[in-house]
Amino acid sequence: MGIFNRKTKTPEVAPVAAPSNSQNLSELVLKSIREGVLIVSEQGNVTLANPMACTMIGHDANELVGISVTSGVTFVDKSGNAIAENANPIIVGLRTGEVGEHRDLSLLNVRNNKTTPISLIVTPTNGAGSSVVVTMRDIAQELKEESERMDFISTASHEMRTPVASIEGYLGLAMNPATATIDQRAMEYLNKAHESSQHLGRLFQDLLDTTKLDDGLIKVRMEPVELASLVKQYADAQIPNIQAKGLTYQFGSGNNQAGGSAMTPLYYASIDRDFLQEILNNLIENAIKYTPAGGIAVTVTGDEHSCRIIVADSGIGIPRDEIEHIFQKFYRVDNSDTREIGGTGLGLALVKQRVEAMGGQIWAESEQGKGSQFIVMLPRLSGEAYSQQKFLFDNQQAQAANSTPQPQQ
Ligand SMILES: Nc1ncnc2c1ncn2[C@@H]1O[C@H](COP(=O)(O)OP(=O)(O)OP(=O)(O)O)[C@@H](O)[C@H]1O
Ligand SMILES: [Mg+2]
Repeated sequence: MGIFNRKTKTPEVAPVAAPSNSQNLSELVLKSIREGVLIVSEQGNVTLANPMACTMIGHDANELVGISVTSGVTFVDKSGNAIAENANPIIVGLRTGEVGEHRDLSLLNVRNNKTTPISLIVTPTNGAGSSVVVTMRDIAQELKEESERMDFISTASHEMRTPVASIEGYLGLAMNPATATIDQRAMEYLNKAHESSQHLGRLFQDLLDTTKLDDGLIKVRMEPVELASLVKQYADAQIPNIQAKGLTYQFGSGNNQAGGSAMTPLYYASIDRDFLQEILNNLIENAIKYTPAGGIAVTVTGDEHSCRIIVADSGIGIPRDEIEHIFQKFYRVDNSDTREIGGTGLGLALVKQRVEAMGGQIWAESEQGKGSQFIVMLPRLSGEAYSQQKFLFDNQQAQAANSTPQPQQ
């Protein structure tokens, strides 16, 4: 588990008389809980709104019940723009019948015109086209605490990098025969100390990187590329580490489109090179770490609209109920297979941030004891779009090289 456990405050609920039957009990629960609950019919109309939902939305229950959910409830994104109807998570839940969980939206209160960040869960009652149950929780305080934690981590890791760099430097001097004389045994001890200080340095760097992207301090620099060749280049750089563990390695690039030609297709996408390299390094590092024997395969494939990078291993796998958590900061699966393997649980959080910052998605599929697959999906560019974007990108590069640095807007 992560080192930071999320604290949830237990709401103080006034004591109430025991309910006489189960309907009363349900009503009592809905009235007393601190989460907003809505039920929305298959036609998209509100059929129930509990008191907390009414407080959060700024309408009375009799104003909400019976009206279309899109006219009664407004969600806004991080930039303060109202969410379009076809992207409204409730409408999406009604259409697809899939459970949706969101932590990146705010709810507009029509009475005071204020927005509140919420955790939103949309649960269809019976698949696509059925009514949905919507729960909304105010997470303003949670986000504030998270941001304070991140500030602390960012400052602390920044401060701690300097002494670590100094330790590294002196260890380097001590281990260099040109600058110091030490015996074989001392060299072994210093080697161990050196490995640990490098690990510590990487940990601080990871901590800094995750907090920087959270704060928007790292800018994404998108560039149109042919993805398969670049992924191969970055993945091949890990071959020595893969072989050092005695694992096999395969790279493949294939066409999933029906009627695809036998020729290797070109997968064009817009990516940030540094991000892509970090993503592959982390995924392959995990594949090596969590695979005692067998092999690792990296594949680039895709369809008309998307490219997929798949990093697969034949390792220990991930228990089914842990998969949804592994992308959270500091989360590590804790079982007899993993206990001896070191790590901080930050790698995948960093990877997810990077993938999403490039407009992509990542998920894992795994069977315990058999292996895991991490799939990164990125929007695919057509050949024509690639040529246009490449022309513009190359022009911008040439201009930047020719002009003196300008302050950023
Ligand atoms: N390929 C994999 N096979 C099995 N389990 C994996 C794999 N990749 C990740 N995991 C599980 O997900 C957890 C989170 O991975 P993550 O990369 O975020 O952290 P870590 O590897 O423990 O530490 P680090 O921050 O050094 O990367 C791991 O602790 C491990 O339990
Ligand atoms: Mg890792």
